Amino acid sequence: MNYRRGVDAATSAPLLQAGGNGQLTEMHHSSHPPPRRKPGFFASLFRITVQPTRRIGPQIPSGMAANTDTLLQALQWRYATKTFDPNLPIEPATWAALEESLLLTASSYGLQPWRFLVITDAAIRAELRPHSWNQSQITDCSHLVVLLKKRTVTAADADRLIEAIATTRGINASTLAGYRQMIQVDLIDGPRSQIIGQWASNQVYIALGNLLTSAALLGVDTCAIEGFSPPDYDRILGLENGDYQSCVVCACGHRSSADNYANLAKVRYSATDLIEHR
Ligand SMILES: Cc1cc2nc3c(=O)[nH]c(=O)nc-3n(C[C@H](O)[C@H](O)[C@H](O)COP(=O)(O)O)c2cc1C
Repeated sequence: MNYRRGVDAATSAPLLQAGGNGQLTEMHHSSHPPPRRKPGFFASLFRITVQPTRRIGPQIPSGMAANTDTLLQALQWRYATKTFDPNLPIEPATWAALEESLLLTASSYGLQPWRFLVITDAAIRAELRPHSWNQSQITDCSHLVVLLKKRTVTAADADRLIEAIATTRGINASTLAGYRQMIQVDLIDGPRSQIIGQWASNQVYIALGNLLTSAALLGVDTCAIEGFSPPDYDRILGLENGDYQSCVVCACGHRSSADNYANLAKVRYSATDLIEHR
């Protein structure tokens, strides 16, 4: 599938329309002539470059974009699973994709102040369960993820990132000095260094959200879990003297057919309450 993008001539509202050749193309309402726009208008609208051919890039790879039904169906299907079927493990290839989704999570400056402990060992999980409000998901899910956050952000973290960018993109690290300085004056020396634990948690929760949605799209059930004792987790998992500490947990697997929570209607405030257009 691909998309054609443009502006409704009557309303000036952006249009996005599926096409067939894997390319983005501007389109206009068929019963109106194309509106006259200054060069660069569409580029500023979509923050992308308009080519002389009037093709808009970057292209969406063919078959990549899920349709709206797929997305919303998955998000409706997803629920905080209370009872996992311990006999239904996640397929290795599916799990590998979910680990990849964690790695692909966006973070502030790209600093990735996290690690992810994937625990399948039954003995460790049995030890963690009493420190998790005795929730059965801890022992019964297929893969238990403890999302860890970095305790501090230091000059070494900034250097690590700059080095990674330079190596990955084949550029000289010195060209990134300004970017490194932004990190320094913001997170390392600036006022946000005082709340760096909160900042790191915020980043880790983006990874959690990414995991919940990615899992739902792949037909994997999850339960985000804050009902646990971080100090006990850190002790059991040997994290007390390390750079990372437990932040939030996510149980992943497949729901038990006996989990009646799957049948409960979703409780969400209305769009009129929560979404405002200006
Ligand atoms: C950060 C976070 C922590 C949560 N902690 C728990 C938990 O410890 N145990 C649990 O059963 N559900 C937990 N939940 C699930 C929420 O209660 C659930 O997502 C919410 O009630 C909405 O229901 P739904 O996810 O089924 O749509 C948590 C959810 C989030 C996002």
